[in-house]
Amino acid sequence: KEYHAEADTDFVLPNNQEWARNIVKKWKFSKDIEHKVVPVVVGAEELTENRKIIEAIDKSQLKEGVLAGKFANATAEDLEKAVEVAAADIDGWRSKTHEQRHEVLKQVAIKVRERRDDLIGIAAAEVGKVFTETDVEVSEAVDFLEFYPYSVNYFQKYQNLEFSGKGVGVVVPPWNFPVAIPLGGIAAILAAGNTVIIKPASVAALTAYEMCKCFWDAGVSKNTLQFVPCPGALAGEHLIANKKVDFVILTGGEDTAYKMLETRADLFLTAETGGKDATIVTNMADRDQAVKNVCQSAFGNSGQKCSATSLLVLEEEVYNDKSFKKALIDTARSMSVGSVWDFKNRIGTLANPVSGALKQAISELEEGEEWALEPSYAEDNEYMLKPAIKWGIKEGSFIHKTELFGPVLAVIKANDLRHAVDIVNSTGYGLTSGIESLDEREVAYWKENLKAGNLYINRGTTGAIVLRQPFGGMGKSAIGAGRKVGIFNYITQFVNFEEINTPS
Ligand code: ALA
Repeated sequence: KEYHAEADTDFVLPNNQEWARNIVKKWKFSKDIEHKVVPVVVGAEELTENRKIIEAIDKSQLKEGVLAGKFANATAEDLEKAVEVAAADIDGWRSKTHEQRHEVLKQVAIKVRERRDDLIGIAAAEVGKVFTETDVEVSEAVDFLEFYPYSVNYFQKYQNLEFSGKGVGVVVPPWNFPVAIPLGGIAAILAAGNTVIIKPASVAALTAYEMCKCFWDAGVSKNTLQFVPCPGALAGEHLIANKKVDFVILTGGEDTAYKMLETRADLFLTAETGGKDATIVTNMADRDQAVKNVCQSAFGNSGQKCSATSLLVLEEEVYNDKSFKKALIDTARSMSVGSVWDFKNRIGTLANPVSGALKQAISELEEGEEWALEPSYAEDNEYMLKPAIKWGIKEGSFIHKTELFGPVLAVIKANDLRHAVDIVNSTGYGLTSGIESLDEREVAYWKENLKAGNLYINRGTTGAIVLRQPFGGMGKSAIGAGRKVGIFNYITQFVNFEEINTPS
C-alpha cells in the first residue's frame, strides 16, 4: 500500500461549517473540561491525589474564572517510576512484531480522524488556536501515524534490514502545535519499537492528554505511553538525567537543548530549536502573490510557529514600491484577531501574554526603524496582539537576529539577491526560508547559497507536509541529531540495526 497525505477539512462546504458550529457548541463554556482534572499517567495508573493541580485558563474566553481545565503535575517520584516502567516494558510493546505495532498505530490514526473535532475544540479553548490551524495539525498527525510505520516497513522489506527499538524515548514538545508535534514524536518512537514518556508543554497539557487518549483507546497501553506534565526543571533532573532514558525528542528553545546536554553529555538528543525565518522578495516576483504568502506565513497562528516568516527581505525596487507596501499593510490589517469561536477571526489569542523578546520588539525602535503597521491589541487584551510591521530594519539589529514568536514582521532592504541571502544567513538560524521570484536563475542561486532546512519557492514558509516537505533545519535551528521529521530515515534514530550475515 502506498502512503498518501491526509486531506484537510474544506471549511467552505456547508456541512463542514455545520460540523464546525457543533465544535463551538460542545467546547465553548464546556463545564465538563472546566471541572475535570487531567491526571498524570504512570504505570497504568491515573494519579491526581496529592499532586499539584494546575488551572489552565481558557484562552478562547480570557474571562476571569473561566478555565479550559485542570491538570495534575507529576512529582519527582512519578518521573522516576515512569522511567522504570518504560524500561521494564511491562506490556511487551518492544517484543511485538513490526506488523503488530503497525496494526495498533493504524487504529490510533482512525481514532485521531474520528476525534478531529474534539482535538480542534480543546486546542481552541486551551491554546486559543483557530480551527483551520488545528485542522491541518490533525491531518499531519494522521500522516505521522501512517508514515512512520510505512518507513519502518520500507527499511525492513526493501532494505532487508533487521532492527529493534533502542528502549525508552522521551518527547518534550512545544505548545504551538499542540497536536501534531507531540503526536509525531510518540508515533515515531512507538513505530520504531520503543516505549515512550511524554512531558507535555504546560500551556498545552490538556490538548496533549486528549491526543494521548487516541493512543490509549486504540490499544497502546498506559505502561507503553506514559504522560507526565511537570515543570521543565523537574523533568531535567528526574527524567532527562536518568540513564535509562535512551533518547529524547525536543522541540523548543536552544537553551533547553543545551541544558539537556549539560545535564547528560551522553544523551542522544534530536532537537528542533526554532528559527528566524525569512522570505526574500526580488524585483522579479509576482508581488501580489508575495503579499499573500508572506502575510499568511508571518501572522498565521499569531506568528507562533518556528517556521513563520518573521524577516521580510526586499530587493530595493520592491522596498521602494509604495503599492507593494500598501498591499502588505492592508492585508495584514485585514487579518482579524479575536475569539477563536468567531469564525471571522483568522488569528486567535497568544498562548502567553506578550513578554520577553516580543515585548522588546514592540516597545522599542532602533535607529532607522519605523512602524509601517503599529502594534496594537484587539479588545484591549494583551493576549490579542494584532499583526504589526516594522520597516527599515538595519543589519545586525535585535529584531534581525532574534526569534520573537509573535505577529511582528521585520522588513529589511537588500541591494540585490546576493546581499539578501547574506542577510538571511547571518541570523545563524536555518529552519525555513522562502523566495518570491519568477526568475529561475535567481531561484537557482538562492537554492545553492541559502542555508536552511526547508526551502520554499513562491509559497509560504509554514505548513510542511509529511514526506513532501520533510521538516527540520540546520545551524542554531537543529541541535543534537536534529534530523528532519516526516522523512524515511527519521525512525532510524530510535533503533539499533542488527547486521545479519549469511554465507554466500
Ligand atoms: N511543521 C510546521 C510547519 O511547517 C512547524 O509550519
